[in-house]
Amino acid sequence: MAASPFHLGWFLGNSYGVHGWNQEWGGSDGEDWTQPDLHIDLARALERACFDYLLLEDSLFVPDNHGGSMEFYLARALRAPKNDPLPLVPLLAQATTHLGIVPTISTSFYPPFLLARLIATLDLMSKGRVGCNFVTSTAERAAQNFGLEAHLEHDLRYEMAEEFVDLVIRLWESWEPDAIVQDREAGVFVDHRKVHAIDFKGRFFASRGPLNTARPAQGRPVLVQAGGSPQGRAFAARHMDSVIVAVSTIAEMKEFRGDMRRRLVAEGRDPGSCKILYVVAPTLGETNEEARSRSDRRQAQREQSPAVTLAMMGSLTDIDFSTFDLDTPIGELTTNGQQGTLKRFLAQGRTLREIAANYRYGYEDLVGTPEHVAGAMAEVMQEVGGDGFVFTGPLTRRYVAEITDGVVPILQRRGLVRTAYAHRHFRDNLFAY
Ligand SMILES: Cc1cc2nc3c(=O)[nH]c(=O)nc-3n(C[C@H](O)[C@H](O)[C@H](O)COP(=O)(O)O)c2cc1C
Repeated sequence: MAASPFHLGWFLGNSYGVHGWNQEWGGSDGEDWTQPDLHIDLARALERACFDYLLLEDSLFVPDNHGGSMEFYLARALRAPKNDPLPLVPLLAQATTHLGIVPTISTSFYPPFLLARLIATLDLMSKGRVGCNFVTSTAERAAQNFGLEAHLEHDLRYEMAEEFVDLVIRLWESWEPDAIVQDREAGVFVDHRKVHAIDFKGRFFASRGPLNTARPAQGRPVLVQAGGSPQGRAFAARHMDSVIVAVSTIAEMKEFRGDMRRRLVAEGRDPGSCKILYVVAPTLGETNEEARSRSDRRQAQREQSPAVTLAMMGSLTDIDFSTFDLDTPIGELTTNGQQGTLKRFLAQGRTLREIAANYRYGYEDLVGTPEHVAGAMAEVMQEVGGDGFVFTGPLTRRYVAEITDGVVPILQRRGLVRTAYAHRHFRDNLFAY
C-alpha cells in the first residue's frame, strides 16, 4: 500500500480530432468529430473519478512523413483533421467544477503575450482550473505553416521555450493580486499603482506589459511539459509543476524520477514541487483471461500492420520509415523532432519490424480485471515512489468507463487516490499531497 494517495490525469492524444471512426465502440463520434459532446462526457467522467487533470494534446500540421504523402494519415484520420482544442476549454470548464484542464500550446509559434492573456482569461473564467502544456513543436511541416523554411534546431527551441515561459509568468505577475479594488465610493475599479509594465527584453522575445487582463485566479496556472530529452528535463526542472512521462518499464520510470528530482534540487526547488505522472494504457476485461485475450488481439494487429506505428513515429520524428527495409537492422538515426521519443523507439529492437511490434507509448503491463489493474497500479507506484499516472488510450465511452467506473473506484476504496476534491483551485488540489 502506498504511503500517500497518488494523482491521476488523462492524456488525450489526438485531442479535438477524430476518435473511434470505423472502430469498435466508437459510436457515432467519429462521424460527429467536430462536436464537443465526447470531450464533455470525458471531462465529466474524470471529475466523477476525482482526477487532477485532463491534458489536451495538440499539433499544427497535416503529416506527410510516411511514403512522402498525406494519404496514409488522412485516409485513416490519423492526427488530422484536428480542431484547435482551446475553444473546448470553456466548455469543459462549464461542464465540471474541479477538474484541471490543460491545453497544449507551442512555445515556438504562439506569441507569448497572446498566450499569457489567453490562459489568464481561461483561468479567470474557470475560477482557477486551467494549466498549460508547453511544447516546442517538433515537426518541420508545422514550422513551414508559420513561415519558416526549416524548423529551428531542437536545443534552440528549448532555449526559446525557457524565455517564453519566463515572459509569460512575468506578464501574469504584472498585476498584483489585490490590484482590482472595485471601490464604488472612490470610483476606482483598479488601483493603477498595482499594475506594472515589465519591460522584458530577451534574446527571442520582448514585451512591455502589463497584461491587459487581471492576474490569473491561481496566480500562476499549472505549468506542464512532456519532453524527455536532457533539454526537456532541464526545462521541466526549472519551471514546471507537472511532467508527463511516456515510458514502458518500471526501470525507466525510476530512472526518470531519480533524474528529475536531482535536477529539481539542483535548481533550488523542493523535489516534490513537480508532480511526475506516468502514461499508462491498461487493458480491462471481465476476467483476467478476457483482458489478456484483448491485449493479445491488439498485439496481433500491431504485428500485422507495423506501418501504423511507423507512420505515427514518422510524424513525431520527421523520419520516413517507409523508406527502410522492415527486416534489416536499423542502426542509429537522428532527429530534429522528438529526440527522447526516438531514442526510446529505437531501443525496442534491431529491425523496424521488431521495434514496431515491441514499442509502447507508455506503460501497458496493466492487463486484467479492474481489481487486478488497480492492484498492479498500486504496486508500480510503491516501487517507483510517486507521483501518479495519466491514462491514455482510444477515446471511447467504453474505455473511459472501464477506467473511471471500473479501476478508479477500487483505487479509491483502497485509499490510493482521492475520493473528493479538497480545494477549488487546480493547483491546490495538485499540491494537496
Ligand atoms: C506524453 C507526451 C505528450 C506530448 N504531447 C505533445 C503535444 O500535445 N504536442 C506536441 O507538439 N508535442 C507533444 N509532446 C512532445 C514534447 O512535449 C516535446 O516537445 C518533444 O518530445 C520534444 O522533446 P524531446 O526532444 O525533449 O523529447 C509530447 C511528448 C510526450 C512524451
